[in-house]
Amino acid sequence: MNMVNDFNEKMQDYNSYTEANMRRYNNYTYENRPQRNLLDAMNYSLEAGGKRVRPVLVYAFCEALGGDYRRAAAPACAVEMMHTFSLIHDDLPAMDNDDLRRGKPSCHKKFNEAMAILAGDALAVLPFEILADDELLTAEQKILMISVLANAVGRDGMIGGQVIDMENENRDDVDEENLRNMYKCKTGQLIAVSCAMGGICADADSDKIRAAIEYGYKLGLAFQIVDDILDVTGDEEVIGKPVGSDEQEHKTTFVSLYGVEKAQEIADRMTDEALEILEGFDNNEFLRELTIRLLNRKK
Ligand code: IPE
Ligand code: IPE
Ligand code: MG
Ligand code: MG
Ligand code: MG
Repeated sequence: MNMVNDFNEKMQDYNSYTEANMRRYNNYTYENRPQRNLLDAMNYSLEAGGKRVRPVLVYAFCEALGGDYRRAAAPACAVEMMHTFSLIHDDLPAMDNDDLRRGKPSCHKKFNEAMAILAGDALAVLPFEILADDELLTAEQKILMISVLANAVGRDGMIGGQVIDMENENRDDVDEENLRNMYKCKTGQLIAVSCAMGGICADADSDKIRAAIEYGYKLGLAFQIVDDILDVTGDEEVIGKPVGSDEQEHKTTFVSLYGVEKAQEIADRMTDEALEILEGFDNNEFLRELTIRLLNRKK
């Protein structure tokens, strides 16, 4: 069997494990509950699809560090829910004002703004419940995961990064250092914590977890730059979200600062640096292939 087959097979295993567990967590009887619209809105956005990259990173680092990825269902689904919360709020009129997400009307278009805000809120806290209630992780693993996840999302994490993103709109004095910090917070932290939680699940040494986090920051920067490039060069049908949104919202990005070509070079360089970090891991074949595919993705 060759590498491509092995990769695709593993990807399929990982993704079906995520979907099965997402269904389990979302299989919550609510037909007769007064807040059923909230649950519909949460499930709508969760089930709209998406690449499920963050759960794959949890599993892949768990396996690369000697763990059993089947024990990582809770952190994998937790981080995907957190990410889905970030997307629902990111699309709101007060933020990026985008009506299309994952190939479907954005949550606030399908439901309404209030419901989208509340569905996002609920998806921001459910991950902690899922982690705390998990039956496969040890108490120590759970506390550590809850701590690193909260940190990756909060003031110095995704939410902090979204604030910098908003405040950089319509500015022409944003420098590369500001942008790198913004990307690290809004995108890198959630990607890095996915890698870290995989390592925690495997009870890996702290130096390995630190390396996994460093890899996550590099991958996150490359990932967000590719996202910015696809916002200009992508096909709406393929990316499942509006093309040209960043320009319309007067965002400052690596593309607006340097143009597509130089932005691509920076993403290439970040990918090389991420691959270098993977050299320190024994079972790195899957992660190497994933890193390269994410650089070359069309969606
Ligand atoms: C989009 O993330 C937002 C960014 C951080 C660039 P993804 O590209 O992972 O979105 P989905 O989950 O596949 O929809
Ligand atoms: C989003 O960046 C980062 C988040 C924390 C959601 P973008 O605003 O570029 O993400 P998309 O392009 O809407 O998915
Ligand atoms: Mg945004
Ligand atoms: Mg956006
Ligand atoms: Mg974007």
